[in-house]
Amino acid sequence: MKGTFIQLVFLLVLAVFLAVGVAAGDLRKGFYEDSCPQAEEIIQNITWKRVAANATLPAKLLRMHFHDCFVRGCDASVLIDSTANNTAEKAAPPNLSLGGFEIIDEIKTQLEKTCAGVVSCADILALSARDSVSFQFKKPMWEVLTGRRDGKISQASEALANIPSPFSNFTVLRQSFANKSLTVHDLVALSGAHTIGVGHCNFFSNRLYNFTGKSDSDKSLDPDYAAVLKAKCKSLSDNTTTVEMDPGGSLNFDNRYFSAVKQHKGLFQSDAALLTDKGAGKIVDEMLVAGKFFTEFAQSMKRMGAIGVLTGSAGEIRKKCNVVNS
Ligand code: HEM
Ligand SMILES: *[C@@H]1O[C@H](CO)[C@@H](O)[C@H](O)[C@H]1NC(C)=O
Ligand SMILES: *[C@@H]1O[C@H](CO)[C@@H](O)[C@H](O)[C@H]1NC(C)=O
Ligand SMILES: *[C@@H]1O[C@H](CO)[C@@H](O)[C@H](O)[C@H]1NC(C)=O
Ligand SMILES: *[C@@H]1O[C@H](CO)[C@@H](O)[C@H](O)[C@H]1NC(C)=O
Ligand SMILES: *[C@@H]1O[C@H](CO)[C@@H](O)[C@H](O)[C@H]1NC(C)=O
Ligand SMILES: *[C@@H]1O[C@H](CO)[C@@H](O)[C@H](O)[C@H]1NC(C)=O
Ligand SMILES: *[C@@H]1O[C@H](CO)[C@@H](O)[C@H](O)[C@H]1NC(C)=O
Ligand SMILES: *[C@@H]1O[C@H](CO)[C@@H](O)[C@H](O)[C@H]1NC(C)=O
Repeated sequence: MKGTFIQLVFLLVLAVFLAVGVAAGDLRKGFYEDSCPQAEEIIQNITWKRVAANATLPAKLLRMHFHDCFVRGCDASVLIDSTANNTAEKAAPPNLSLGGFEIIDEIKTQLEKTCAGVVSCADILALSARDSVSFQFKKPMWEVLTGRRDGKISQASEALANIPSPFSNFTVLRQSFANKSLTVHDLVALSGAHTIGVGHCNFFSNRLYNFTGKSDSDKSLDPDYAAVLKAKCKSLSDNTTTVEMDPGGSLNFDNRYFSAVKQHKGLFQSDAALLTDKGAGKIVDEMLVAGKFFTEFAQSMKRMGAIGVLTGSAGEIRKKCNVVNS
């Protein structure tokens, strides 16, 4: 009788372990340790070499990884080119200014020479995004588990439905993250990515010139900062000028984004929205401590990097990152 009970408890514990394992998506540390031992070093070397020559790349690669993970999971679907039959994610409006594809291609070419058909484009993107941001620190800023495989589908409509818009309010942002099993804590921490990179005027000029349709500005935007932005974005229709999201520090990965948001200098409505919810506002305050931001960002990146991943025998290992295998 007692024996059966212990067996039952054992089975239950085992079941829980298995369930947790599955939920973590079967990614693991050093997936290529045996199959392609130099993979992670090659990715880091090429990424660092490229970033040393072009400091805008970390923002491109970090954003590309985010767009990949939010559409069909982190399966490199964002890298696939459109074909005669298919309009891919890349071609969807939220793609504006996506960049860094050539770095992924250079890495893939090198990896195919070293160990053909082994390393997925999805893992290359996840690692390269991490390494590009980490170049500034000369050490990995978050852990990237590996073992992702590449998807075969990429559709513009899915990018539109899943990538949050900069015009979103807090309710919609929370929903779009919850859709990916990410919390409000993840939403706030990951928004800190906007400490690097730039945004095009047309994503926020409504806040300067026509917020409610009465040629007014967004009252929640600091008026002095609004004046600075107006000097850069001269009209509602300007879709070519870009502005640093963290004024004066857009090449530096730090927690200054949160000070900007706090001072009502968040660039997009989606940045300003973090102050409209009490809970999120408290998390913004926590992020004002640099060490806290780095720890929290690392944890949330790990969670983002696990969204909907294909593992085991699902998907494929693409030969070229911009086309599915034939
Ligand atoms: C919370 C919802 C988010 C919204 C609404 C949003 C929206 C945007 C928009 C509109 C841009 C400007 C694109 C352009 O004008 O070229 C941008 C840039 C950027 N986003 Fe986000 N984003 C969000 C979350 C994230 C997350 C989670 C990450 C990464 C973890 C991220 C990383 C970036 C980076 C690095 C840039 C700069 C890109 C560059 O300099 O080319 N964003 N985002
Ligand atoms: C990566 O770069 C380091 C430092 O330059 C070098 O010692 C190492 O051999 C490189 N590794 C590979 C696999 O290219
Ligand atoms: C496009 O669709 C046609 C008809 O469905 C099919 O025969 C062709 O192989 C497809 N081409 C590509 C590149 O997928
Ligand atoms: C982004 O989408 C536009 C159309 O909305 C397209 O013309 C452009 O080539 C796309 N950019 C990339 C990098 O694919
Ligand atoms: C840096 O990389 C970005 C993204 O690939 C590219 O658009 C830009 O032209 C590059 N800048 C320089 C100076 O090479
Ligand atoms: C947020 O935006 C959605 C979609 O535009 C809208 O339906 C909703 O009413 C807004 N919520 C708040 C609190 O403004
Ligand atoms: C949630 O995900 C579904 C399916 O991917 C999508 O159709 C829907 O638009 C998403 N909702 C939000 C708010 O992102
Ligand atoms: C401002 O918005 C209103 C309402 O959407 C629109 O009718 C008007 O044309 C816009 N003004 C400008 C200058 O675009
Ligand atoms: C910018 O606006 C012009 C004029 O409305 C339009 O023709 C062009 O396609 C837009 N470019 C982008 C990148 O959206």
